[in-house]
Amino acid sequence: MAARKNKDDHDYKTIFQENRSRKASDPVNTPATASVNQLPCISEFHTMNPARPAGDARLILPMNQLRTLLSALLLGSAVLVLQPAGAQPARAADPMAQRVAACTACHGKEGRATSDGFFPRIAGKPAGYLYNQLINFRDGRRRYPMMTYLVAPLSEEYLKQMAEYFSSLHPPYSAPQPANLPAASLKRAEALVMEGDRSRNIPACIACHGQKLTGVLPSIPSLVALPRDYLNAQFGAWKNGARKAAAPDCMAHIASQLTSEEIGAVSAWLASQPIPQDMSAAPASSVKLPVACGSFPQ
Ligand code: HEC
Ligand code: HEC
Repeated sequence: MAARKNKDDHDYKTIFQENRSRKASDPVNTPATASVNQLPCISEFHTMNPARPAGDARLILPMNQLRTLLSALLLGSAVLVLQPAGAQPARAADPMAQRVAACTACHGKEGRATSDGFFPRIAGKPAGYLYNQLINFRDGRRRYPMMTYLVAPLSEEYLKQMAEYFSSLHPPYSAPQPANLPAASLKRAEALVMEGDRSRNIPACIACHGQKLTGVLPSIPSLVALPRDYLNAQFGAWKNGARKAAAPDCMAHIASQLTSEEIGAVSAWLASQPIPQDMSAAPASSVKLPVACGSFPQ
């Protein structure tokens, strides 16, 4: 096995594997005595939130699977620090904040993400994008069992409300991450982002994600202010089919065109960009997608 010189030698495959296995294998995160009841925010989630209409029930993970999941994913991690056993979720004046305590247990206060790059920020992303992801987890286009478990029984109307709620929050962003890569790699990455590669039919990222890379309404996300590990993991998931979007899945196609070296460089370059003062997504009318994307009807 090739030794890794430093953290920046991570390629997307390593990151992807590490992210997939870390929560389950890290002894710190897997105490043996896991119990759903120790996490009131998760166990109460479905009683606090409106269900889908009757007759429209979807398969919910059986309780024993949920227990395994909880022990593998949650207990002993930062979640317990945020929501200690027996503690009341923060009684905010906003009832929605209270009902989504389960979400912020993983996604950080107000959905601002956690520092490790594994639990993504959901605050301030376009509501249509967040909603599409909730549907993707529900329908198996993205895979993370706890996400599926939480959203499966909820009505689409309510998923929309949760998406709008998190989209409306704007907690501070964490600082950009320095890109410790040779200048030539970063130059190449910048060219891919800003211009694409005509000879290989790869469109520029800005053609869809907006001139300032802050996303496009209603459903294209920003590419700035995302951690390098998260970016690498998403490309890994697209490449190996663990993440899909509504067809035609333009991102799956783009990911398949890029080499792992290019992905590593693009992720490092993006994660190192200064956070724009104005992170709001550009209006839909500002782009004409070069390739059709099922999640962005035009
Ligand atoms: C057990 C931890 C956990 C809980 C609880 C949780 N999530 Fe997640 N969520 C994740 C992880 C991990 C991912 C990223 C998975 C991946 O890489 O595909 C994710 C991804 C997402 C995404 C996609 C983000 C993006 O930028 O593409 C959204 C939206 C989301 N979660 C919303 C929610 C909401 C709303 C709730 C509460 C109902 C919730 N999550 C509860 C762990 C959790
Ligand atoms: C043809 C339009 C198009 C182009 C070009 C494009 N994207 Fe995307 N991208 C999308 C759409 C649409 C989504 C949302 C997919 C979904 O709903 O899951 C997306 C999502 C993403 C995400 C997921 C973000 C998150 O928060 O999880 C990443 C990362 C990404 N794109 C990176 C890139 C990079 C890097 C490039 C340039 C190399 C690029 N994209 C070029 C349309 C595009």
